[in-house]
Amino acid sequence: MSIKITMPSDVQVLEQITEPLLRWYHAQETDRQLPWREDPSPYHVWLSEIMLQQTRAAAVIPYYEAFLAALPTIGNLAACDDDRLMKLWQGLGYYSRARNLKKAAGVIMEQHDGQLPADFKALRALPGIGDYTAGAIASIAFGLPAPAVDGNVLRTVTRLLAWPADILAASTKKATAELLAPHYPTGHEAGALNQAFMDLGATICLPHGTPHCARCPLSRLCLSHAEGREEEFPHKKPKKERRKEKLTVFVLHQGPAIALRRRPDSGLLAGLWEFPHVDGHLKKAEALQLLQSKGYTIDCMVPMPAAKHIFSHIEWQMHGYEVWLSDRGDRIAESPADSTRGGQELRWISLPDVHTSYSIPSAFQHFLPAG
Ligand code: ADE
Repeated sequence: MSIKITMPSDVQVLEQITEPLLRWYHAQETDRQLPWREDPSPYHVWLSEIMLQQTRAAAVIPYYEAFLAALPTIGNLAACDDDRLMKLWQGLGYYSRARNLKKAAGVIMEQHDGQLPADFKALRALPGIGDYTAGAIASIAFGLPAPAVDGNVLRTVTRLLAWPADILAASTKKATAELLAPHYPTGHEAGALNQAFMDLGATICLPHGTPHCARCPLSRLCLSHAEGREEEFPHKKPKKERRKEKLTVFVLHQGPAIALRRRPDSGLLAGLWEFPHVDGHLKKAEALQLLQSKGYTIDCMVPMPAAKHIFSHIEWQMHGYEVWLSDRGDRIAESPADSTRGGQELRWISLPDVHTSYSIPSAFQHFLPAG
């Protein structure tokens, strides 16, 4: 392993961080009373860590509580109907995480007697569980001495060591885990140390703007702070620009029903319900012509406000039309949508049912008429 740390003495700083970090964490714990910390059973920790992967703790709390009220055990999760699962996840995004939760729950029921395994490697082998999540569950739920290296830990450690490594590189993550592992305690303090890093990253060693070094329990050890260079770290290679895609979305009304279709089983927003749409931004005359060519009889069509949705690697720039149809006709099984954009079959569902029983991903929520 080649770790570019500027001075041999630098790594020794890590020997001194555990004690002040834990002391700080225990002193301020009441500031972040989070439900998964109150009852850190393996299932609770697992669920919270998956939900927290792209979402702030405060926003996760209501989802976490509703999810556990609906599916209180791993067995309930394994047996949950997919649409119900998607409904519980609606708003959190990254739906493949929910699918992996259910898949992993199935494996746990079949291969681990319904209990998450108390072993880093066995956790890591479950669907949707990577090094970070395995480390978080192993330490918080089972008291094993495993680092959980996420962006917060990478930021804190690279600042602490004034280490100019690219924090988006997998090698930096691996090296950080290897550097930290020997300094981990066992038992309750293992999980406390990981959560101390999380809290430090969320409240003190901030990603944007000036970190609050005056309140940091590690400031007297921090090599970049000693040189006033904390904002030079972490180093990140610029990300590739997102691909931009233009879409025209149709909200088709037929009496009390609107048209939805299911997305393909793989790829972006796999298996979720969406409004039919086509590539490109169609002008009103073009949109009318398209619908008429598919056999629709149109009472009224109005443009909807444009919307944008940002995924990690794609940006959708969406225009939309709300259309009231006078007649669904025989030919109207054909959707006004490109075959390149998924299945053709439309399902007509009453608007109240759409609101209560279908999970419409956030990308399309802008177009969902009020129930
Ligand atoms: N972010 C990720 N995991 C967390 C946890 N256990 N507590 C607070 N924030 C988190």
